[in-house]
Amino acid sequence: MIEIKNITKTYNSGDISVSFQALKGVSFTIKDGEFVAIMGPSGSGKSTLMHILGALDSPTSGTYFLDGKDVSTLSDDELADIRKDKIGFVFQSFNLLPRTTVLRNVMLPLVYDGIEVNEREKRAKEALIAAGLDEAHFTHLSNQLSGGQIQRVAIARALVNNPSLILADEPTGNLDSRTGEVVLGTFQKLNKEFGRTIVLITHEPEIAEHADRILFIKDGLLIEDKTTHQKRIIKNI
Ligand SMILES: Nc1ncnc2c1ncn2[C@@H]1O[C@H](COP(=O)(O)OP(=O)(O)OP(=O)(O)O)[C@@H](O)[C@H]1O
Ligand SMILES: [Mg+2]
Repeated sequence: MIEIKNITKTYNSGDISVSFQALKGVSFTIKDGEFVAIMGPSGSGKSTLMHILGALDSPTSGTYFLDGKDVSTLSDDELADIRKDKIGFVFQSFNLLPRTTVLRNVMLPLVYDGIEVNEREKRAKEALIAAGLDEAHFTHLSNQLSGGQIQRVAIARALVNNPSLILADEPTGNLDSRTGEVVLGTFQKLNKEFGRTIVLITHEPEIAEHADRILFIKDGLLIEDKTTHQKRIIKNI
């Protein structure tokens, strides 16, 4: 599903003489239905890579094929369509709308698709159930939730457009280890039961162990591609 070859990304901060190469030629393939973790030190290029995989940004050079389509050459409008149709994002800073119910927060991405309100509500409820949020919380305002519950709403919002690819940047970074495990269990379930392809950035080795495979990035390069043999499965989610 994902095939990147020799991807580089250079940031020019206004002045071209202070350009910085955040990715220096990264290549890998991710198959449909894989659960991949990305690890690496701070500043190594993980989020940069994730933005490219998510069609939020274009590489400076290299090719990116998503479902056989060359994404690296698409216009901004075409990239926006790919994001809407195929990709769900879970960002570390979960920006739910304040003073707005959980359900409305999850319905929001569907507004632009011109889907009727009853159908939007139905899909939002399904996504919240898939993300493991208790139904009693659907009408809570987003400031009446715990960190783990907010993160589940963020996952539901990423799922509501039914994406085949879910990208998550440090989704457990702000959570205590118990809540982090529960959120991880949600990703595992989406992967195993719903067949979603998942790419997840994490600093924590015990989180990465839940994936099928771990890619290690350092100084803008892929330095290791490891299959996790003793994958930890979270039960009873
Ligand atoms: N928009 C930008 N303009 C200039 N430099 C940038 C920009 N975004 C990122 N960088 C630089 O690129 C490098 C990689 O950044 P990136 O955000 O990909 O790191 P990361 O691996 O996600 O780090 P962390 O674990 O801290 O989130 C860093 O040195 C960063 O300063
Ligand atoms: Mg980052």
